[in-house]
Amino acid sequence: MAASLHLNVRSLNAPFHLKPVAKQSPRPASSIRCASAAAAPPKRYSITLLPGDGIGPEVISVAKNVLKLAGSLEGIDFIFQEMPMGGAALDLTGVPLPEETLSAAQKADAVLLGAIGGYKWDKNEKHLKPETGLLQLREGLKVFANLRPATVLPQLVDSSTLKKDVAEGVDLMVVRELTGGIYFGKPRGFGTNEKGEEIGFNTEVYATYEIDRIARVAFEIARKRRGQLCSVDKANVLEASMLWRKRITAIAADYPDVELSHMYVDNAAMQLVRYPKQFDTIVTNNIFGDILSDEASMITGSIGMLPSASLGESGPGLFEPIHGSAPDIAGQDKANPLATILSAAMLLKYGLGEVNAAKRIENAVLDTLNKGFRTGDIYSAGNKLVGCKEMGEAVLKSVDSPVPAAM
Ligand code: IPM
Ligand code: MG
Repeated sequence: MAASLHLNVRSLNAPFHLKPVAKQSPRPASSIRCASAAAAPPKRYSITLLPGDGIGPEVISVAKNVLKLAGSLEGIDFIFQEMPMGGAALDLTGVPLPEETLSAAQKADAVLLGAIGGYKWDKNEKHLKPETGLLQLREGLKVFANLRPATVLPQLVDSSTLKKDVAEGVDLMVVRELTGGIYFGKPRGFGTNEKGEEIGFNTEVYATYEIDRIARVAFEIARKRRGQLCSVDKANVLEASMLWRKRITAIAADYPDVELSHMYVDNAAMQLVRYPKQFDTIVTNNIFGDILSDEASMITGSIGMLPSASLGESGPGLFEPIHGSAPDIAGQDKANPLATILSAAMLLKYGLGEVNAAKRIENAVLDTLNKGFRTGDIYSAGNKLVGCKEMGEAVLKSVDSPVPAAM
């Protein structure tokens, strides 16, 4: 039986909100649009592309073509605008997130990012690091909810470093708070202690409204999945986590259909490799989500497969693969473009409410894997080793062919 790719929610309905219809769209705003392309005039969306650094430009160029084709088959036009970001922007303009890039992103209907960073800028001062540009972008777009699905596809179960019976069937979603906590908390900085020693310090801080809004996103998502939400914190030690647990518990009253549990982060890290199938939806703060989502991604075999969506209360969402810029393989046509292609599917589903076009892409990725196409990171004997471009072409072919009923 063909696998279904539950990128995020079981139902095809959007989890908690949808972005407004494209400004250029001739159609009235509606919460969910079912594309019946035949009679309707084409819809048009503006997409800001941020290829970034390393393998970013390679995977974005492939994903752009897939997005274009899937859109056109559903009566959707895209206007793409490519802007510099990260190291590329540093080289071009001296800053990692130029104002023009942020403003283009804010005006777009959705933003698709490749990856940022590289050896060249590693030693830069903090405000001149590519990563700082990414944090500024998240803050500037106010995308506080980061959705990171980790699904073990039957086709790739052997790529997992875990035993087959542990990895098989894992299908979880990490909902990470993205614009608060220790990443942004003040005070922060460098200084000296009473002994005159140099110190570095940061602040883990959460306000009630920040916890409440991420909690609601997570409960909505859990409700559309298997109805289980595990909140991960360190409430045995940290005050910010104590408030986190208190607020998550309070919000749970509005979601009686969702089964809520709490887990300390050290235990969660252990449980993820011990028995990952116990998890459905995980909600956690910025720093724990950063760490646990990398760990969860590895259960699936390759970080090169996993997409993400970052959403705010309104305005464009930011969609990006979880992987980094992989400077060691950049420019060699070796990158796996599937995480970015699947991020384009999340863009369609969560960012634009275009669920049919999203489904086309998800199915095409499964079809391509079923046909045995594999980039190096997911290769196993008996399959066809391809580069980034060829993988992209294979996906394009599958997007173009009728959606197999079994998927
Ligand atoms: C991620 C990355 C970023 C983060 C870095 C690049 C700033 O690790 O998206 O998980 O820490 O959030
Ligand atoms: Mg990370």
